[in-house]
Amino acid sequence: MNIGIIGAGNVGKILGEGFVKSGHRVVISSREPHNLKHVSWKQEVGESGDITSFEEAARFGEIIIVALPWSCLKDVLTSINPVYLTNKTVIDVSNAIHFDNGPRLLLPDTSAGVTVQKLLPESHVVKTLNTISDKIMIHPNFKEGSPIMFMCGNDNSSKDQVRALLNDIGWTTLVDLGDIRQSILQESIMIACVISEIQLQSPGSAFALLKH
Ligand SMILES: NC(=O)c1ccc[n+]([C@@H]2O[C@H](COP(=O)([O-])OP(=O)(O)OC[C@H]3O[C@@H](n4cnc5c(N)ncnc54)[C@H](OP(=O)(O)O)[C@@H]3O)[C@@H](O)[C@H]2O)c1
Repeated sequence: MNIGIIGAGNVGKILGEGFVKSGHRVVISSREPHNLKHVSWKQEVGESGDITSFEEAARFGEIIIVALPWSCLKDVLTSINPVYLTNKTVIDVSNAIHFDNGPRLLLPDTSAGVTVQKLLPESHVVKTLNTISDKIMIHPNFKEGSPIMFMCGNDNSSKDQVRALLNDIGWTTLVDLGDIRQSILQESIMIACVISEIQLQSPGSAFALLKH
């Protein structure tokens, strides 16, 4: 598929690389697509990956991934012609958090996922991958077993698409939590994971479900 990634930071680049290596065509995006900081990514992914503007990535993608800090997400999304996002699956990996006195949800009465869906009412937003560090976002291999990845969203076909994409980058234990309002669970789990990592001095951790 053609995947358009809005963002070219840590998450945009690692997901871009993961999806190119699993056979997709990927465009990541930046305010400065020609900046030298992107050269090594382009060399790594070769002909199946490119870097452009935010709007061009949205136009290119059959599926869109929003990989932006919360502080600029709304401004960037509203700067893109909505026609390029209409009726598309939009994967939201964002976390709206602040770190004063430890990590806390910035939107405790709603969630980033619900807010993104409201910003893009004609798109099918699926929340996933927000609970995991970019270092282990693709092909997460742990000797103890397979970590769990949650998703939620309002549109079942979009969730099927996302399930297939997650499988492509090595996620095999997937749980659909329900509609996009369940984003708050995933965003809370992300905070619980960060606190667990700090207390247990175990960076790069992931949650798993222990099964009988
Ligand atoms: N990093 C992780 O381990 C991780 C894991 C799970 C979820 N997340 C979530 O994923 C999202 C992206 O995280 P990230 O670590 O990839 O962020 P990042 O590395 O800081 O990504 C920055 C991207 O956002 C763009 N950007 C930054 N400020 C901007 C502004 N004022 N206006 C327009 N664009 C701006 C940058 O554009 P330029 O290229 O032009 O600078 C760049 O493409 C966040 O919501 C984060 O909470 C992160």
